[in-house]
Amino acid sequence: MLRPRSGGTYLDGTLGGGSHAEAILEASSPDGRLIGLDRDPAAIDEARRRLARFEDRVEFHNASFAEVDRTPGLEWGMLDGALLDLGVSSAQIDDKARGFSYRQDAPLDMRMGPRGEPVREWLSRAELSEIQRILREYGEERHAHRIARVIVRERGRAPIDTTGRLRELVESAVPASGHPLKSVARVFQALRILVNDELGALARGLGLSVAALRPGGRLVVIAYHSLEDRMVKHTFRELASDCVCPPDFPVCRCDKRSEVEVLTKRPVVPSVREIEANPRARSARLRAAEKKRAA
Ligand SMILES: C[S@@+](CC[C@H](N)C(=O)[O-])C[C@H]1O[C@@H](n2cnc3c(N)ncnc32)[C@H](O)[C@@H]1O
Repeated sequence: MLRPRSGGTYLDGTLGGGSHAEAILEASSPDGRLIGLDRDPAAIDEARRRLARFEDRVEFHNASFAEVDRTPGLEWGMLDGALLDLGVSSAQIDDKARGFSYRQDAPLDMRMGPRGEPVREWLSRAELSEIQRILREYGEERHAHRIARVIVRERGRAPIDTTGRLRELVESAVPASGHPLKSVARVFQALRILVNDELGALARGLGLSVAALRPGGRLVVIAYHSLEDRMVKHTFRELASDCVCPPDFPVCRCDKRSEVEVLTKRPVVPSVREIEANPRARSARLRAAEKKRAA
């Protein structure tokens, strides 16, 4: 979908370990350029190591794609392609000290970068109704109310500052017939999305990435969560539409012009073979759009 070519300039807004970036740099040899961003300094270090042989064709920035407009040297309309591969990386999940995984006991942090508030701090101060809302909206968790009640009751007895304690509390709040471990996974996901403001960053990052594309340039987004995928779908649909007037307006009164063509009517999903080889890809949904030439 990205069609990297020599001479092109590409943005990888989510470098991670740098494997997509490596593929983009290889496909755009010998002189394609890549601007790589990640909000996690550890990811930048890892990507630097992996991409060392492309040293003169790649730039690294420890920043969020939500502030891609502040990237030095990046101007509107200059990119041939941009990639956002959302969420957390395997390296982050597997690094026990980061607190992303409920499978190992660790301090309850879950921040992707040094900014923001660790989950343990948010849980120590948030109101019951707010906890419930986040678990329901971001985790789509049916037992949000019960879990929020247990969290608020138990934090008065001892701080909830490890992944192990949070997991135990969630498991104790959910009836055995209600698949407690699935609730644990949804609660962890909801809290991770919250403390990293993942939906806010995506809303900004999508618009900014399209603005940074040249006509004919492409934005490719891989989402792993239904809320993110929905946001990508709706944003692409809106950017592609020629009119955003309410349906009951007899004539169009808006100046909206279609900016992109959506290349994926349905999201591209991994094949059975890909999921076998890489189970963490199972929920991936890829969508792509191309900036219109007359936009
Ligand atoms: C799924 S991984 C990307 C893996 C990468 N495509 C690769 O080939 O290794 C997601 C990465 O995006 C980063 N990330 C998530 N949200 C971000 C944001 N708003 N801005 C910049 N990086 C972000 C995470 O820190 C993580 O390293």
